[in-house]
Amino acid sequence: MPLAVVQDSTNGPLTMLWGLLVSFLASLTARSAVNGQSPTGLAPKAFLSLPLGTIKPAGWLHDQLIVQTNGLAGHEHEFYHYVSQSDWIGGNSYYSSLEEAGSYWFNGMIPTGVLVNDPTIQTQVQQFLDYVLDHQDSTGWLGPEVNTTKPRYLWGRYPFFFGAIQMVEANPALTDRVVTALHKFVSLANTMLHDGEGLEDWAKTRWEDFVMVLQWLYDFHPNGQEDLLVDTMKMLKWSGDPWEDVFKEEYFPKSAVENLPNPFPVLTWHGVNMAEGLKALPATYRFTHNQSDLDAASKGWDLLFQYHGRPSGIYAADEYLAGLEADRGTELCLVVETMFSGSYLYQVIGDPKFADRVERITYNALPATLTGDMWSRQYLQQQNQIAAKNMTPNPFPNDGPYSNVFGLEPNYPCCTVNHPQGWPKFISNAFVTTPDQKSLVHVYLGPYSVNTTLAGGNKVSVTVDTLYPFSDTLTTTITAKNAFTYHVRIPSWVSKGTIAINGAAPKSVSPKNGLHAVSVKAGTTKVVLDLPSDITIESRPHGSVAVHRGPLHYAYDIARSQKVLTANAQEPRAVDLEFDATGRWQYAIDPDTLTFHGSTPSGGNLPSPVFDSGLPPFTITATACPIDWEVAGDTFAAVPPTNPACTGEATNITLWPFGATKLRIGEFPTFKAT
Ligand SMILES: *[C@@H]1O[C@H](CO)[C@@H](O)[C@H](O)[C@H]1NC(C)=O
Ligand SMILES: *[C@@H]1O[C@H](CO)[C@@H](O)[C@H](O)[C@H]1NC(C)=O
Ligand SMILES: *[C@@H]1O[C@H](CO)[C@@H](O)[C@H](O)[C@H]1NC(C)=O
Ligand SMILES: *[C@@H]1O[C@H](CO)[C@@H](O)[C@H](O)[C@H]1NC(C)=O
Repeated sequence: MPLAVVQDSTNGPLTMLWGLLVSFLASLTARSAVNGQSPTGLAPKAFLSLPLGTIKPAGWLHDQLIVQTNGLAGHEHEFYHYVSQSDWIGGNSYYSSLEEAGSYWFNGMIPTGVLVNDPTIQTQVQQFLDYVLDHQDSTGWLGPEVNTTKPRYLWGRYPFFFGAIQMVEANPALTDRVVTALHKFVSLANTMLHDGEGLEDWAKTRWEDFVMVLQWLYDFHPNGQEDLLVDTMKMLKWSGDPWEDVFKEEYFPKSAVENLPNPFPVLTWHGVNMAEGLKALPATYRFTHNQSDLDAASKGWDLLFQYHGRPSGIYAADEYLAGLEADRGTELCLVVETMFSGSYLYQVIGDPKFADRVERITYNALPATLTGDMWSRQYLQQQNQIAAKNMTPNPFPNDGPYSNVFGLEPNYPCCTVNHPQGWPKFISNAFVTTPDQKSLVHVYLGPYSVNTTLAGGNKVSVTVDTLYPFSDTLTTTITAKNAFTYHVRIPSWVSKGTIAINGAAPKSVSPKNGLHAVSVKAGTTKVVLDLPSDITIESRPHGSVAVHRGPLHYAYDIARSQKVLTANAQEPRAVDLEFDATGRWQYAIDPDTLTFHGSTPSGGNLPSPVFDSGLPPFTITATACPIDWEVAGDTFAAVPPTNPACTGEATNITLWPFGATKLRIGEFPTFKAT
């Protein structure tokens, strides 16, 4: 379908005229294709996202964003040297950090500020935007290189552009200023690309982020520049790294890569580049219209998780792809970038596997790598993590011994400024519409409120009341001006799910392509979903197993002591923490004894924060026995022993949602209880 996405849909005679125009244009394009010309326009996406602010978090999810706002993310502008305002006023380093810290911070704090309606954050990001736009130079360049002789590379601006787009979505009064500045920059960037300028090795891996910005301009504000925009997309792709080959099975690395030769530039096997590169082929598809780009994107996603995946939903790359062993690391930046890429893949391709995995990453890998109060974060998390401390030697071939400490900026500063995008972008992608904008689709399950106007002026509001993923039940109230079809994602792990509409008897859910359709009449409709799931066992290396139920992965939470290694001089809450195990963690479990325990929390509310030891209302118990299990280096768990002997009496242990554990065993050896 070689037509640009249509943003405006109206009812009545206009729609008919529009329909005629569409078929006329389609016949023209069909003719030009016959004549051997490539189709014009951008291919449509499977779903359209909603503007920032349309979808608000409710209940515990709102609280989670408040925790983030009260934690490191919401306060770093006050003291953290890479993004602090005092540096900006004093020595201009706030601005000069556009490449890359300021740009990252801006991208994550805009949705945070809008979704919790925080005036302080909103003022901070507005000042940042104003400063950058007011200092665009006459050539069109944006950023700290203005009025300097610093080299000009394109990439540092891409997260800033993502942020500026979100600001326009939340506040359309900014449209003209931002769009004018972007078009001016695009014209310069196009010339630079034709002259072979503006790219270095990192920019060559991350070209797709700029392509997505160009596609936003094309879809919403082309201003007659369609040809220049598409030419710039093509220039970025052809000058950038070849993701269509990197993700091919014949070249894709099937193990940790430290001893493998990469046939492509080495940075393509870097974890964060790959997380961002997942967007390259769906973005390419929009201007090539070539189904093979979507097939390759889908295949690449599968290969990545097959050979490097974790039960927590994410994959391992401690700088470079790290295979399946449970002691290897996953960088926080790649967690949030994979969440964002997965949302985009779902919106372009429509395959529910992307949404299922994004939900698992968000509810497991993301909270696991921050302290409950979100003041300290790791650089690398481990699936089996028996200490968070300076480890010498350490299990990460290309990262330092301090990488799994929970702190302000362990190993590298990037994730301090980049992690804030995780939760709010998950929320702003939790609902989408169908391309005709007649239907609303609830993608990521959790508590929300949404107000939007669908095609034909159909004003719709939705509230979802639930503790999911800490409950199987979701109560959705939909109020609509006109009848329409509402869709809700039914995750692949649901077994015997039911839906009850307006108090009628529950019926089995019947999803098509992952979505259950509900015919909503004008007025108010109440939908109660019950989405239970069975405990499932995932096979892991060395005969070990991982335990899941629904979106949550369960791990043994190792009792820990905490030592403050250092505290920031200006902000004593920004601490570096060492965690050491204070109890036994060397257990084998009997998978046949796993038992789920779910309780409704008292008062119907979850504790705040919820992602810390002993807090979630869901647990799984297992019969376990003590075993011998080596410690490697100083201090990480050696590979799980295969078929170990019990060294003592069997006992019952409790497994907790992975996101609440900070020291843990997530991949267990097994034994057979008698
Ligand atoms: C560049 O520096 C000059 C001299 O300080 C100043 O007048 C001008 O406004 C600056 N240009 C931009 C785009 O910031
Ligand atoms: C589509 O992609 C395939 C595989 O990369 C390629 O061989 C083919 O030439 C492409 N077709 C078009 C029309 O670009
Ligand atoms: C939707 O509208 C209702 C009623 O005006 C309001 O309470 C709610 O906060 C709104 N939600 C969003 C996401 O704006
Ligand atoms: C473990 O729990 C099961 C089920 O509750 C119980 O039958 C069994 O006796 C317990 N085993 C031990 C060793 O406590």
